[in-house]
Amino acid sequence: MFDNRDGEQKNRDNNNKSLLKVVAVAGPKGGVGKSTISANLAISLASMGKKVILADLDLGAANLHALLGLRDSGQTLDDFILKKVKNLSDVVRSTEIQNLKFICGGSQIPNIANMPYQQKVKLINHLQKLESDILIIDLGAGSSYNVVDFSFIAHKGLFVTTPEVTSLMNLYSFIKSSVFRRLGFLFKSEKAGDVLQLLEEAKDVDANPHLNTMGKFFSAADKIDEDAVRSAKKVLSEFSPNIIVNRVQTAGDANVGAVLQGLTDKYLGVQSHLVANLPDDSSVKQSINKMKPVMVNAPASGFARSVNNLAANLAAG
Ligand SMILES: Nc1ncnc2c1ncn2[C@@H]1O[C@H](COP(=O)(O)OP(=O)(O)OP(=O)(O)O)[C@@H](O)[C@H]1O
Ligand SMILES: [Mg+2]
Repeated sequence: MFDNRDGEQKNRDNNNKSLLKVVAVAGPKGGVGKSTISANLAISLASMGKKVILADLDLGAANLHALLGLRDSGQTLDDFILKKVKNLSDVVRSTEIQNLKFICGGSQIPNIANMPYQQKVKLINHLQKLESDILIIDLGAGSSYNVVDFSFIAHKGLFVTTPEVTSLMNLYSFIKSSVFRRLGFLFKSEKAGDVLQLLEEAKDVDANPHLNTMGKFFSAADKIDEDAVRSAKKVLSEFSPNIIVNRVQTAGDANVGAVLQGLTDKYLGVQSHLVANLPDDSSVKQSINKMKPVMVNAPASGFARSVNNLAANLAAG
């Protein structure tokens, strides 16, 4: 249910015996818990015996090492991007946690939003060749095309929000942007120019209220190009964003995931999944202040237990 990739990619992967499962942790709003979740999820999966590499791709604002209690020394993504080392695997470091390796984010390179296309493609290629069971990438805040593109390579995209309306709306816009980018690529590759034009119009719901749901867009597009619409429906049926609501405090908070699922279904034609409601937990801040991961500092806390449940689901799926 978490699988994000298109059919062709899955077939290619089925022929690849050393399959690396890529989990991207993304979310457009800053400070919602992406890095905290990435680090603790990685530790939880490692404790289950999975070989895990955690990569800090929050370029320009890398801080994952601190959450793991590591110093910002040694080789980082900078060394790979600035071509001081040849392979990304050269900057993979060991950690004190068994089964967990780490790629420290760069600080000299511009943020991911400004990464040139060629550099992005090279980094994606090297990420996909890493040897491990699971690669977890912390993508940092933002909803630039680069962030969306990194989340495309993932088998599982985990999209983090808090229960606040602003955070939810940001995440909705991020998922919308992913949907339109996917469909845009498809219509371009199928040379369906008129439908592509209609898709551009549908992006602006205020100017084009008659196209304000994916269902209405498909009805209008069907009159232009039935084949393109058929392919588009297939692409959308294979896109299933996984939502994590972090810092849940009340029963109302626990419901917001369902609200977001309803919105993506109604307006974007996308079946999203709520994969975790993680509690707001004082042990998170306490652990960060001690420069220790929650899984190590407070393994019996509500947050740690919820992360373990999420990890177990991911490992099984
Ligand atoms: N479940 C939680 N309970 C309590 N506090 C939390 C929880 N999750 C995150 N926090 C707090 O939120 C702060 C921000 O978390 P984090 O750095 O993981 O967010 P982020 O989404 O990675 O931010 P950025 O977008 O800046 O990379 C943490 O320092 C921590 O204090
Ligand atoms: Mg972060």
